[in-house]
Amino acid sequence: MYKAYVFDAYGTLFDVHSAVSRHFDIVGENPARVSEVWRNKQLEYTWVRTTMNRYKDFWDLTSQALDFALAATPGSNPDCKQVLMDAYLSLDCYSEVPSVLKKLKEQGYKTAILSNGSPKMLSSAVDHAGLSDLLDDQFSIDDIQIFKADPATYQMVIDKYVMQPEQVAFQSSNRWDIAGATAFGFSCNWVNRTTQPDEYLDLAPLKTISDLNGLLD
Ligand code: LAC
Repeated sequence: MYKAYVFDAYGTLFDVHSAVSRHFDIVGENPARVSEVWRNKQLEYTWVRTTMNRYKDFWDLTSQALDFALAATPGSNPDCKQVLMDAYLSLDCYSEVPSVLKKLKEQGYKTAILSNGSPKMLSSAVDHAGLSDLLDDQFSIDDIQIFKADPATYQMVIDKYVMQPEQVAFQSSNRWDIAGATAFGFSCNWVNRTTQPDEYLDLAPLKTISDLNGLLD
């Protein structure tokens, strides 16, 4: 039924918290809080900027979000910023990612990323994780300068791959992204790695899995 498996990048293939956890000893008193605020602000900026029609690329927003997170978390060390930004270009991928992508490719599916990340960020993370040969495409919304969950972002995949939306299996750990992709018509698997409660109940995924191995069941 499916012809392609398309993946969100951050939080789905790559562990966004690995930048801080790798350097937790230089971040200050509350590294976990910094990492959480960093991620939440990064996402908030994408939604607000799309609403305002004032695009800035994901690298800029990631930088601004880290400035906020460090300033808003008491006891943080502002001097760690460059190290954390560099680490964002080489985030760890989740352990099952290479083997799952390899199996999907062996079964003849197209595999791709569809992400808010800028092309530079994505290619750096993909190369560092050794995934380049396992992915056919890296779709970056930077090409259209609109962030997910706008339907135009999911349309990027259909514009290149000649297939119906439901023939695309879309995976994301972000429930709001699953809502957007479901509304667009993709067949969605929610990767609920951290056992979050469900939301956007009218836009439900076909399946909820705890990691990407669930795609092979
Ligand atoms: C991405 C963010 C939303 O990769 O995780 O698009």
